[in-house]
Amino acid sequence: MTGSNNGFVWGAATAAFQIEGATTVDGRGESIWDRFAASPGRVRNGDTGEPACEHYYRWREDLDLMQSLGLQGYRFSISWPRVQPDGRGPVNRKGLDFYRRLVEGLRERGIAPLATLYHWDLPQTLQEEGGWGNRDVVERFVEYADVVFAELGDGVSDWITHNEPWVIAFLGHAYGTKAPGANDWPLAVRASHHVLLSHGLAVRRFREAAREGRIGITLDLTVVAPATESREDAAAARRLDGHQNRWFLDPVFRGSYPADMVELYESRFGPFDAVLDGDLELISQPLDFLGVNFYRPHVVAAADVEPLGGSSLDLDAEVTAMGWPVVPSALTDLLVRVQRDYGDLPLLITENGAAFDDRLDGGGVIEDERRLEFVKRHVEALERARAAGVDVRGYYVWSLLDNFEWEHGYEKRFGIVFVDFPTQRRILKRSALWYRDLIAARTSTRS
Ligand code: FCB
Repeated sequence: MTGSNNGFVWGAATAAFQIEGATTVDGRGESIWDRFAASPGRVRNGDTGEPACEHYYRWREDLDLMQSLGLQGYRFSISWPRVQPDGRGPVNRKGLDFYRRLVEGLRERGIAPLATLYHWDLPQTLQEEGGWGNRDVVERFVEYADVVFAELGDGVSDWITHNEPWVIAFLGHAYGTKAPGANDWPLAVRASHHVLLSHGLAVRRFREAAREGRIGITLDLTVVAPATESREDAAAARRLDGHQNRWFLDPVFRGSYPADMVELYESRFGPFDAVLDGDLELISQPLDFLGVNFYRPHVVAAADVEPLGGSSLDLDAEVTAMGWPVVPSALTDLLVRVQRDYGDLPLLITENGAAFDDRLDGGGVIEDERRLEFVKRHVEALERARAAGVDVRGYYVWSLLDNFEWEHGYEKRFGIVFVDFPTQRRILKRSALWYRDLIAARTSTRS
């Protein structure tokens, strides 16, 4: 969270599996995303983590690109199977060296690294032992975190333990749209606890080792409104808020799971017995910041859908290529709510952005007016929250580059920079140029 603009950082974000490619070189182990993408029907067009953006080979060029845009911060993730191919034991020196060089390259260019330890690419060997459903994974994660802190801690001062525990637990294990692709709600609820516990233990390890720097977690938060004033819709909205927001915010910041959601899950899935004595104290250690990923709000009506008893309605709003409604004011509401309900903690917008169908038309710059507007209006929304007293310290646009958008493959483009995958050419979009100018203007007027 260093930067030249009164501490506010303007940056961009990526994730290892989405950009690196090079999935079988230099000793990298298999991840659950390699396995998932190789399973027929899981990822659109049969796309895989190859070639992605070949960032493993092209990282220097990508760092130069970031510098040319004036980025002050770069959020990236570390691939666990590159560092520990089997998820335990000896480290893979070549894998760590890649991140060491990347971090040094960022520093040389005056870009502050913000490193995420886990952005969904669990070593496949650990999945075979039960993955996030098996409490043993918690110790493995802490061991991995410790290795990375020790090896990269002189260059990285800002750390995120997990990216989006809700996605890891529920999209991965209940809805099954993301790796490992299970459809098992009790497993998902258990997995959510283990992810949170591993976060808490990694934070404790970071503090015990007196590491310098800051550590936090990134949650994907949303704003949920009821479709009508009926009691039923209000209750359905509260359940979705409980499922997606409070199930993670409450244990991290209050040291307890929300009672209404524990009751709901237990009524459907039996005792929530993954929680052992002392777990919640570990999960709720003080953090240096909270990372917030925001893409869209929800309007919910009561419906006969298990287990949440609600369904999300279409809004009367523009939608992105993901079909997500564009409602920038919801970001202001969200930030104000987080501060009101969970205290005055520094917040970072660790992801925000949009997919649109960009076209390569032979021009020097790709015209992506709608993405530009999306980012602009969300930046305004976050500035409104700051003006209302919310302590927001940074904004990282998702994403620097078009990349492997998980189960949607390469079809959904979120980059402010276009990637022509067959040639790997990077081509600026108008939004990147606009963002460069925004950073320059904000930095000169407020330094
Ligand atoms: C978030 C993920 C990120 C990207 C965006 C669009 O949920 O963290 O990797 O897929 O959505």
